[in-house]
Amino acid sequence: MRTVILDTDPGTDDALALMMALNSPDLRVEGVTTVGGNASLTDTTDNAIRLVEYLDEERGAIPVAVGADRPVHGSFTHAYHVHGAGGLGVRLPAPTLKPHAMSAVEFICDRALQAVQPLTVIALGPLTNVAAALGSRPDLVDALAEVVVMGGAFEAPGNITPHAEFNIHEDPEAANAVFASGVLVTVVGLDVTRQTSMHRRDGPRWFEGESRSAELGNRILADRFQERADLQEFYLHDPLAVAATIDPDILTSRPAQVSVVTEGDERGRTVARYGGGTVKVAVDVDVERAVGIVRSLISDSQT
Ligand code: RIB
Ligand code: CA
Repeated sequence: MRTVILDTDPGTDDALALMMALNSPDLRVEGVTTVGGNASLTDTTDNAIRLVEYLDEERGAIPVAVGADRPVHGSFTHAYHVHGAGGLGVRLPAPTLKPHAMSAVEFICDRALQAVQPLTVIALGPLTNVAAALGSRPDLVDALAEVVVMGGAFEAPGNITPHAEFNIHEDPEAANAVFASGVLVTVVGLDVTRQTSMHRRDGPRWFEGESRSAELGNRILADRFQERADLQEFYLHDPLAVAATIDPDILTSRPAQVSVVTEGDERGRTVARYGGGTVKVAVDVDVERAVGIVRSLISDSQT
């Protein structure tokens, strides 16, 4: 059982990742911290609260702490055209809970530094909160078991520019700080996440069963495929980061020192110097096992 905090910018694939984490018998979700990115911080926070309330009715509310509404420099470039109105596309019941009193940075530091078992941060959005937490408490480096980052593009083209993946491009300075901090990182980039997807042709029941996660997962995918006529594959970017946290063996990873370009046209590009370092770069994935974990954790029949 791993204790995790999801730092997230929901976001449709973030929503599927959150369902997996809440449903997994191998993870205990300590809390959710929100960051701007796919949508405004207001929307990502509203979506996070709506999701944990809708998905977690019986277990009592998971705390949601609010993080950064902008990167270290500049502002976030939102992706409503990808994720739909409000950042989720579909509607969920209005939230009844309020965000946690602590900020995201305070929440991450507080929970990590008092944890009996070192906890893992699963970072599914820009790394602004994670970098700020590590910068505010350097002892966090040793307190955290690991940071699993969905981000980067190493031998693969980017998705927001030819060179850069969205999460890293949103805050390259923060990403550099996280990769250089010495905290153990597994980085799950486009090199592997683009190999895992749900296909339009396999719908409308991509997830089996009548559970709320199966129903909502199907509704989110149906909405995306309906709204985006060009979309044939829904990439499982964030769900793969959660699957890799549950079963690291689905990835083939190489130790490296990772840096991020912060200037010029290649801003946001991730560069790996393999051979050693505190970052494990995912270079391949067992697609069948990975997609199987995603499907089983969102469907009713959880193996
Ligand atoms: O590049 C994909 C990543 O950017 C995913 O985390 C998606 O949710 C967006 O945040
Ligand atoms: Ca995300």
